[in-house]
Amino acid sequence: DDDDEQKGPRIGFKAVAASTADAIVVPEGYSYQVLAPWGSALFVDSPAWRTDGTNTAAEQARQVGDNHDGMHFFPIDGQSSNEGLLVVNHEYVNPEYLYGAEFMTPWTVEKANKALAAHGVSVLHIVRNAAGKWEVKLDSSYNRRITGTTPMTLSGPVAGSDLVKTGADSSGMTVLGTLNNCANGYTPWGTYLTCEENFNGYFGTTSSDEAALTPALRRYGFAKDGFGYRWHEVIDRFDYAKEPNEGNRFGWVVEIDPFDPDSTPVKHTALGRFKHENAAYAIADDGRLVVYMGDDERFDYIYKFVSDGVYVPAQGKANSALLSAGKLYVARFEAGSAAGDMMGAGQWLLLDKSNPLLAGDADLPTQADVLTYARIAADKVGATKMDRPEWIAVHPETGEVYCCLTNNSRRTEAQIDDANPRAGNDYGQIIRWREAGGAAADSFDWDLFVLAGNPVAVPDRKDLRSGSSNINADNTFNSPDGLAFDQDGRLWIQTDGNYSNAGKYAGQGNNQVLCANPATGEIRRFAVGPKACEITGLSFTPDGRTLFINIQHPGEAGSNPEEVAMNPLSVSTWPDAAGGRPRSATVVITRNDGGVIGA
Ligand code: FEO
Ligand code: CA
Ligand code: CA
Ligand code: CA
Repeated sequence: DDDDEQKGPRIGFKAVAASTADAIVVPEGYSYQVLAPWGSALFVDSPAWRTDGTNTAAEQARQVGDNHDGMHFFPIDGQSSNEGLLVVNHEYVNPEYLYGAEFMTPWTVEKANKALAAHGVSVLHIVRNAAGKWEVKLDSSYNRRITGTTPMTLSGPVAGSDLVKTGADSSGMTVLGTLNNCANGYTPWGTYLTCEENFNGYFGTTSSDEAALTPALRRYGFAKDGFGYRWHEVIDRFDYAKEPNEGNRFGWVVEIDPFDPDSTPVKHTALGRFKHENAAYAIADDGRLVVYMGDDERFDYIYKFVSDGVYVPAQGKANSALLSAGKLYVARFEAGSAAGDMMGAGQWLLLDKSNPLLAGDADLPTQADVLTYARIAADKVGATKMDRPEWIAVHPETGEVYCCLTNNSRRTEAQIDDANPRAGNDYGQIIRWREAGGAAADSFDWDLFVLAGNPVAVPDRKDLRSGSSNINADNTFNSPDGLAFDQDGRLWIQTDGNYSNAGKYAGQGNNQVLCANPATGEIRRFAVGPKACEITGLSFTPDGRTLFINIQHPGEAGSNPEEVAMNPLSVSTWPDAAGGRPRSATVVITRNDGGVIGA
């Protein structure tokens, strides 16, 4: 092992150039394969994927879902690097590709049900065959689809409260489905965490009663037409005037046991309700479980959950109870001793009725209210409004925590602070912090690991838009989103940003994967995705020799003539032959010499 603690992990591959091709680019000496695209089989009886969008809702429920996002590889026996369960989030759907030629007219409950069936999670039993290629073991009893209608239960202070009771569920204990499964996490006891992000977009109302859109619904982005999915027109629970509490049952972190296909997923309310990105755990020195989480919205927050109980490895899956009781905190990033140096001190602010700032608050009368409306509680305690917190990653050795702040076009000069130092932030930054005395600490110090930017478009290096000193013409990127460490401490960064390759984004090409050395700050471009995709999801086999990533929504909006006129680079047919409908898929990357990825 040639790692040097002073200089960080070895990064041994040759950087790839920016690309605007409708193709995956990997470094010299690396290869990739496509696995489990949207609509492909995960059961022996899965119906064939139809390229024209005419698969039914029932067929979609037996196929791999759409818009692959966060994922995790669970070795089948706890250590295998050749066989395991790949658990994949399906964040949302692109109606222009999900439906056939008649698109959304007429609008039917069958079409809404097809969208619900394309959401959720896939559990895929995968094996590496004799030729070294990964394939789905279709006859495995582990294979499972969890969708927008799968029954799940609630744990923690909100479970059974009036806030989550509906006409269909007077107990407030059983929710149908998980939605907008963006990024993810996993637990040390071998379960998967899927995180609900833009759940608000599925709700709307046909009512003209404007009072139905309460301040709490507005704070979570609910609107009369939602994001245009139209489910509320045909399924009552998605109409917030008819079922005002249904929306309170989404926006949680959901635990799934991939090794028990009959298990009921659990929405853990103690971790708070917001537009969750991922959930990254650490174990505090005293054994308490700590979970870091971002809320991906302009001017929203970074949170930390600390369990009441301690993790006991011998108790296995019973440790799940740790996620039912604990304290939720939200971060305040202070300027520290000097304003403008992009570093400082920070505090974790308690979101609990025992906090004097919340104790007498009539808007949030109980702890169930504090957790259900965590954003409103965070507003009241003075948390720092961030530039869209995406994934968080914890360094495997040092416990230092990194978080992508993807961009924030709406921040004004008057709203700049040390942690969010640019107005009209097109490029994003990665912030990191060191807890003052272990993961459960109340305070920390922080700095910016990188200020993404574009020295091609903005050559003046004193202009913050050109990026921090570790950004150059060869690694320039915008909108960091996915983030994870590998076992050797390399930091992997994935982007979900502007792929126009023009103007402010000249020279950045399609969305990409970068690899960074946290000790030196070096960042090197590792891979580039096809046109108009986001790259997300990041998991390794235990030996570090296979990397799984997800290509999400290649060609998004590429069937919209206005969009294509604005940006011809949005048209994709990846991964199928020319003329095919573009579709999200997992990409498996290996080294031709069988070595450790990135080293
Ligand atoms: Fe679904 Fe914030 O990414
Ligand atoms: Ca400072
Ligand atoms: Ca994301
Ligand atoms: Ca994003």
